Amino acid sequence: MSMAKILYEGKEYETSIIEGTAGEKAIDVRKLRADTGMITLDSGYANTGSCLSDITFIDGEKGILRYRGIPIEELAGKTSFVEGCYLVIHGHLPNQEELTKFKAGLKKHALLHESMHHFFTGFPSSAHPMAILSSMVCAMSAYYPNCGPEDHDTKHWDENILRLISSIRTLAAFAYKQSIGQPMVYPRHDLSFTGNFLNMMFDTPSYPYEIIPEVEDALDLLFLLHADHEQNCSASTVRLVGSAQTNLYAAVSAGISALWGPLHGGANQQVMIMLQQILEEGGNVKKVIEDAKDKSNPRRLMGFGHRVYKNFDPRAKVIKKACDKVLDRLGIKDPILEIAKELEEAALKDDYFVERKLYPNIDYYSGIIYKAIGIPTNAYTVCFAIGRMPGWISQFLEMRKDKACRIGRPRQIYMGTPLDSFKPMEER
Ligand code: SDX
Repeated sequence: MSMAKILYEGKEYETSIIEGTAGEKAIDVRKLRADTGMITLDSGYANTGSCLSDITFIDGEKGILRYRGIPIEELAGKTSFVEGCYLVIHGHLPNQEELTKFKAGLKKHALLHESMHHFFTGFPSSAHPMAILSSMVCAMSAYYPNCGPEDHDTKHWDENILRLISSIRTLAAFAYKQSIGQPMVYPRHDLSFTGNFLNMMFDTPSYPYEIIPEVEDALDLLFLLHADHEQNCSASTVRLVGSAQTNLYAAVSAGISALWGPLHGGANQQVMIMLQQILEEGGNVKKVIEDAKDKSNPRRLMGFGHRVYKNFDPRAKVIKKACDKVLDRLGIKDPILEIAKELEEAALKDDYFVERKLYPNIDYYSGIIYKAIGIPTNAYTVCFAIGRMPGWISQFLEMRKDKACRIGRPRQIYMGTPLDSFKPMEER
C-alpha cells in the first residue's frame, strides 16, 4: 500500500493512500485530526471523498459513466430503465426470472395509499411539483413505518424499495393532474413502467392518450441515464440524512429537495426557460453567452458545466441523439432545438467556456425531449427524480450496510470573534 507523508512544524505524519478498482487514489485522512490536531478544509467537497462505493464510476476527464462497471453507452438503447434500476440496486443485470419478479413487485406497489389523495387538494394549484413530491415522499413514512434502521426484515425493505421506485410516478402524475384540475388516472397492470407514467400523466376518461413507442423509449432512456451519478448533491444528501438513522422515505425526501436546486436537477427547467427566453428575444445566443461570462451578471449558461465532467457529459451525447429521433417521429420542428445547438456551438468555441472546460451536461438537452413529450416545464426535475430514485435508494442501502459508517458530521474552521462577553442592554 502506498503511503503519504505530511511534514508540519518539524514533525512527520504518515498516512496511507487508498486506491480504487478504477485507479482513483485518495489520501486517507480519517485519523488526521487525532494524529495532527488538524482537519482538511474543502468547501463544496470538490476534493473530498465521502465513502467507498461499488455503485457508479465516473471519469470526468474521459467522459466515462458506468453503472456497476457497465458503460452507459452499452446500456442505452439495450436496457430498460427497470433493468437499470435492478442493476443499480442489486449490483447486476437481472436474469429473466429476477426481472419478472421485480416487474411484478413494481406493479404491486404502484398505488398510493388512498387517504394520501387528500393531501393533494391541500396544495395550491400553483405549487411546484417538487414541493409536493418531497412532502408526499416524507409523508409515506407515516404509512409505511417499517423502513427505519431498527427494521432488519428484508421483506419490508424490498417492499419499500419497490414502492418508492414505482409510486413516485403515481405521485408525480397525480400532482400534475391536480394542478390542471383533471381527474387522477390510476396505474394499469398492462402497461410498461414508463408507458404507465405517460398514461397517468396524459390520459383522460373522455380523451384517450396514445402511447407512441418512440416517445416511451425516449423517456425510458432518459430515466435510465439519470439512474445514479456517484456522490452528487442529492445522493450525498440522502446519505447524510440517512447516516443519522433516519428512515428511507425521509432521507429520499431530503434528496428530492436537494435535486430541486437550479444548480443541480432544477437546471433542466432553467435550461428550457433560458432557451425560450432566447427565442422570444430574437435568438441572440451571443448575448446569453456574454451575460454568462460577465461576473457582475448572476446569469449562468444553464445546462453547461459540471463539478466532475471536465470533458463532455456522456449522457448529454446520448440524449442529443435521442432528441433528433423523437422530434423526427413526432414531426416536430422545434426552433428551441436549433437554438440549443447554436448556443452549444457558440459556447464551445468561446475561450471562457473552453478554458473552464464547460460542456453541456445532462440537463442541457433533456428538457427538449420532455417538452416534445408534453411534460410541463416545472415537472422536468420531477422526471429527473423518477430516474434518480434507484440511485438514491442504492446509495442509502450501501451506506446502511457499511459497518464503518458513522453519522455524517463535517468540521469547520471558526473565523468569528475569538472570545466576547455578555453586555447588559444599557452597555450595547
Ligand atoms: C447536475 O454532481 C452531479 O453529478 C450532478 C448531476 C447528476 O447527475 O447528479 O450531473 C446533475 O446537477 C448537472 C449540473 C446542472 N447544473 C447546471 O447546469 C447549472 C449551471 N452549471 C453551473 O452552475 C456549474 O457548472 C455547476 C454547478 C454545475 C458546477 O459548479 P462548480 O463545480 O462549483 O463550478 P464553479 O462554480 O467552481 O465554476 C468554475 C468556473 C467559475 O468561473 P471562475 O470563477 O473560474 O472565473 O466556471 C464558471 C464559474 O463562474 N462556470 C460557469 C458555469 N459553470 C461554471 N460560468 C457560466 N455558466 C456556467 N454554467
